[in-house]
Amino acid sequence: MRVLVHSGFFVELEEGYVLILASRLLLKYESLSVRAYALMTFHLAMVKPWSFMSNWFQNDDNVPFYTIELKNFWEYNAKETSFSDLFNAAMANDSKFIVYLMMKECKAAFEGLSSLVDVGDGTGIVAWAIVESFPNMKCTMLDLPRLVANCQGSEKLDFVGGSMFEILKKCKEAIASKENGGKVIVIDVVLDNQKEDDGFFLAQLFLDTTMFVVLACKERARKEWAQLFYEASFSHHKITRALGIKSLIEAYP
Ligand SMILES: C[S@@+](CC[C@H](N)C(=O)[O-])C[C@H]1O[C@@H](n2cnc3c(N)ncnc32)[C@H](O)[C@@H]1O
Repeated sequence: MRVLVHSGFFVELEEGYVLILASRLLLKYESLSVRAYALMTFHLAMVKPWSFMSNWFQNDDNVPFYTIELKNFWEYNAKETSFSDLFNAAMANDSKFIVYLMMKECKAAFEGLSSLVDVGDGTGIVAWAIVESFPNMKCTMLDLPRLVANCQGSEKLDFVGGSMFEILKKCKEAIASKENGGKVIVIDVVLDNQKEDDGFFLAQLFLDTTMFVVLACKERARKEWAQLFYEASFSHHKITRALGIKSLIEAYP
């Protein structure tokens, strides 16, 4: 308890210990609970690759995760259902937070759109929130087939199973012109140490490193996002930093 009080999880009172507002988010029944996200972060599958960095430095595997599991993260996820259940629950935690902040801070980005393709939204928490908030919008949510297999859509929301890599290359051709409201919206980390809150930047750096150790991926800084959109021939983009450690990016054709 001493270490938990010192690190700010509990406050010690005369009659015992109480959770603070932030640590209440670890409780299962809090509406914005991040319990599954915390359990996923400290799951052995996520933690073990960090201890294998030195082995990985000396072999040809593209990621420490592969050095241990001999398969990539998504193959592991497909095979180990107890882990994938936890992973999907963790992503649902994250999505609830995103929805809460997005509807408060970035609603304008969706106003006036008549259709939306939502890619990689897990079980569709963000998509449901969008169609409920914008009754004139039709939404198609695409994720891996096993994720959408049991998702029930509605008149306004379709679930499609497939691989995003087949459609992302074509999305620039498929979106309407800027005058007709066409754009790509990305919700992701923009590495940025200019904000006053250093805790946010540290969290971004850890996520960046986790991406690297587990998925052979990375988070991008402002310049890298600009390069990505430039190479994909988008004319300009706008970054709104309002979603915790993530931002909402709008890229225009
Ligand atoms: C890190 S999760 C993000 C989930 C959600 N957007 C969020 O932030 O909470 C990545 C999502 O991409 C999906 N995914 C992974 N590979 C995919 C692929 N090839 N095609 C479509 N979706 C994929 C996963 O199933 C998962 O739902």
